[in-house]
Amino acid sequence: MIMPQLSERSAVVAVIGQGYVGLPLAVRATAVGFKVYGVERDQSRLAALRSCHSFVEDVTDEELEEAVGRGYEAVPSLRDIQSPDIFVISVPTPLRDGLPDLGFIREAAEDVGSVLTPGACVILESTTYPGTTEEFMLPILCEHSGLRRGQFLLGYSPERIDPGNPKFDLVNTPKVVAGIDEASLDAVAAFFGALVDQVVPVATCAEAEMTKLLENTFRHVNIALVNELARFAADLGVDIWRVVDAAATKPFGFMKFTPGPGVGGHCLPVDPSYLAWQVRQRSGQPFRFVELANDINDHMPDYVVERVTAMLNDELKSVKGSHIVALGLAYKANSSDWRESPSLAVIRKLQALGAEVTLCDPMISESTPLPKGTALTAVDKVDQPVDLAVILTAHDLFDWDRIAKAFPKILDTRNVLHSRHFLGERL
Ligand SMILES: NC(=O)c1ccc[n+]([C@@H]2O[C@H](COP(=O)([O-])OP(=O)(O)OC[C@H]3O[C@@H](n4cnc5c(N)ncnc54)[C@H](O)[C@@H]3O)[C@@H](O)[C@H]2O)c1
Repeated sequence: MIMPQLSERSAVVAVIGQGYVGLPLAVRATAVGFKVYGVERDQSRLAALRSCHSFVEDVTDEELEEAVGRGYEAVPSLRDIQSPDIFVISVPTPLRDGLPDLGFIREAAEDVGSVLTPGACVILESTTYPGTTEEFMLPILCEHSGLRRGQFLLGYSPERIDPGNPKFDLVNTPKVVAGIDEASLDAVAAFFGALVDQVVPVATCAEAEMTKLLENTFRHVNIALVNELARFAADLGVDIWRVVDAAATKPFGFMKFTPGPGVGGHCLPVDPSYLAWQVRQRSGQPFRFVELANDINDHMPDYVVERVTAMLNDELKSVKGSHIVALGLAYKANSSDWRESPSLAVIRKLQALGAEVTLCDPMISESTPLPKGTALTAVDKVDQPVDLAVILTAHDLFDWDRIAKAFPKILDTRNVLHSRHFLGERL
């Protein structure tokens, strides 16, 4: 069978899932000339996209408007559109009760299968465990399309996007690509080759799937290492921040990771567990590094609350009845993404102990639905008196000089004030 030239700009692309990963990809694909449908089933996101309102930092409203001008169309399903030549699936891969939940991939694959035509190409981008594309998705696509392996193209390419990163974006970050056969690899490489500066082909989809999990597990484990060391350093009276900065002057063999209140977002708290789950399924062995890193990082919010308690205790105050300002809900600086954020765990624990918590986060708009029991306030509108402020996210939009003056006692879990070590006390 002769496959169409899928890198040709006349090809029609459908990107299923218009979130942090799918929307920037869809916008980029329109910029190089593809006709792109952004398939989004969440009604509020769909409405926002249709009125050119972007909820993703990496895409501005103006960029979205330009994409619409080039033919980008947000649609609720694949049913009412011209049959695409290329499908990219970028749907969530969460954990349910600590286990991988491929439900979104299953549903997306069923939808794609029902409109898949011979010669079209399906690319999975969601982060997932090795074997998902070939062992899990391929049979679903065949069943729902009535096509056989070889009659369509199928590949995997992990997304490495780092929302809010000013240096590395979709275009200048090399893209790992893989296919279930040679023709599929060629098609996936040609498609992404049109969008990004460099593609990195690997031999199998499972290799590409594991590459992504290795990258995120590496980060998760190294953050856990420095988080655990931060606690011991505090016991030893050593400033962990100065130690990390000094170690980072080594020009080889060391990579800088900094301690904090824990890990969040859709990647680090989730992805390593996909790998650990599969290792256990296939080999019966625990992936000890992942389990240990989960344990350490998951308990960092407890440690932050412990430090808050100790700092209030020094003032003869209890957490109960204290007014505490939480600075930052997002899980990382300069992002509005608060999914799985450790700030949430800190806030909930403080509230459970009876504190009155005021939340400030200049990256999060007032219209964003917030977790139950939280409300946003601007720093200069915080009701006084405040017993303690805890810095949880180092957004550039925070005015740190003003914050340092505004609050009498501050626990700085991100070292933005450069004056206190992780315990929040001067050395
Ligand atoms: N956010 C990141 O920084 C990042 C980076 C790299 C990889 N990833 C991975 O990419 C994948 C997507 O992550 P995200 O952050 O973009 O998630 P997201 O939740 O922001 O977006 C996913 C979107 O898919 C939509 N959706 C789900 N099923 C659908 C369906 N059948 N049809 C149409 N729309 C559907 C959801 O409504 C949602 O809007 C995940 O596997 C994630 O682990 C995320």
